[in-house]
Amino acid sequence: MKTSLFFFFFFCCSLSLLFCFHLPRVSSSAGVDRLKLPPRGWNSYDSFCWTISEDDFLTSAKVVAKYLKSHGYEYVVVDYLWYRRLVPGAYVESLGFDVIDQWGRMVPAPDRWPSAKSGKGFTEVAKEVHSLGLKFGIHVMRGLSRQAFDANTPILDITTGRAYKESGREWRAQDIGIKERSCAWMPHGFMSVNTSLPAGRAFLSSLYHQYAEWGVDFIKHDCVFGADFNLEEITYVSRVLKKLNRPILYSLSPGTSVTPTMAKELKGLANMYRVTADDWDSWGDVASHFDVARDFAKAEMVPGEGLLGNSWPDLDMLPLGWLTDQGVNRGPHRQCNLTLDEQRTQVDVRISGVRSWIATGRRGEIYVAFFNLNVEKTLISAKLSDMAKVLPGRNLEHKAACKGREVWSGQRYGAVGDPLEMVVEKHGCALFVLTCS
Ligand SMILES: *[C@@H]1O[C@H](CO)[C@@H](O)[C@H](O)[C@H]1NC(C)=O
Ligand SMILES: *[C@@H]1O[C@H](CO)[C@@H](O)[C@H](O)[C@H]1NC(C)=O
Repeated sequence: MKTSLFFFFFFCCSLSLLFCFHLPRVSSSAGVDRLKLPPRGWNSYDSFCWTISEDDFLTSAKVVAKYLKSHGYEYVVVDYLWYRRLVPGAYVESLGFDVIDQWGRMVPAPDRWPSAKSGKGFTEVAKEVHSLGLKFGIHVMRGLSRQAFDANTPILDITTGRAYKESGREWRAQDIGIKERSCAWMPHGFMSVNTSLPAGRAFLSSLYHQYAEWGVDFIKHDCVFGADFNLEEITYVSRVLKKLNRPILYSLSPGTSVTPTMAKELKGLANMYRVTADDWDSWGDVASHFDVARDFAKAEMVPGEGLLGNSWPDLDMLPLGWLTDQGVNRGPHRQCNLTLDEQRTQVDVRISGVRSWIATGRRGEIYVAFFNLNVEKTLISAKLSDMAKVLPGRNLEHKAACKGREVWSGQRYGAVGDPLEMVVEKHGCALFVLTCS
């Protein structure tokens, strides 16, 4: 990760940046080329909740293309409820404001996504995003919408282009939807479909083929993981994605109550999975990520085996810059609540996982991070001999051999001291980049 990216975070307005750990060391396991590094990008949720428009989205995409793409941030993702009309009475838990097609599939609401008119879905938006050299992602919920269930829409059979028939009859939404399995955090919104039924599988297939036709590169599938774990649906969707001739990155959400044991059940199925609940700009959210990140690193799941490539645990967004609040009908209207030190720690925890951390980079450099989770300034130090035990053969024992800098202060060291130490602010961090010859 390049230094300039760190500094950029604090100047970029109305961007909340997502995703994952950045581990400087790239696993060379299994010759998997796809997703050698964790996918990175921008997601609309923390700045727009659900209310984003096509114009806001494409403006944000241009900012990502201009400032972040060169640092590996290549995805721009529309978060939830892009099919909901932004009209009085419509909010996160409302029912009946969504735009669905004749087959019960979600369609971008044309009041917010004008290019979706005349049945084009996200085709034009995807084209624009691709023309910026970026990849396009969307958020989707589990299974079937309550609105399609209530309308009892027929199911599209993608092999015939007509209504799905089996045993001499047409199957409909109410034959496949499982009302008792509504999404716990959006009970009026969505429910599971029965993947044991061929008609249920035909419906899911019709959704994901449409996303591929629109030109989608990334799908965040929500209300199927963590506390809402639905392995049947994940497994089937993964199978559909695997067979498409367009590679689509498969990301799972939410992340409440996720353990490495649960994540191991995803082996080969997905590319990202949330391991934390929604991350907002409060110190509690930042601090709670340390233990989770450590557990997944210990379980050797950073990365793991994913769908047509690696899989990565995902710590959710970096909520920086201009933000909104959870579940409201408002776009960006306030600045991030974290102090500058807390923001730096939030960025650095992505490359770490523990309170004091060491790793090597691709060019032979050594990264050492200190995190101060205390409420007081603290002197943090690490003996070079202890670091040498973790990274043998790197010449760390000979302090005169190592030079480097501390990223946030910009302080340069002609020769590093032993122990390596720094006074770190409350909730702050230090990040050293060393080269030892
Ligand atoms: C799903 O469909 C199968 C096959 O018809 C049936 O046995 C099962 O009870 C259904 N599951 C639910 C939860 O409705
Ligand atoms: C941010 O700060 C405001 C004002 O103190 C507070 O009302 C709000 O709950 C905070 N938001 C978060 C996510 O902590």
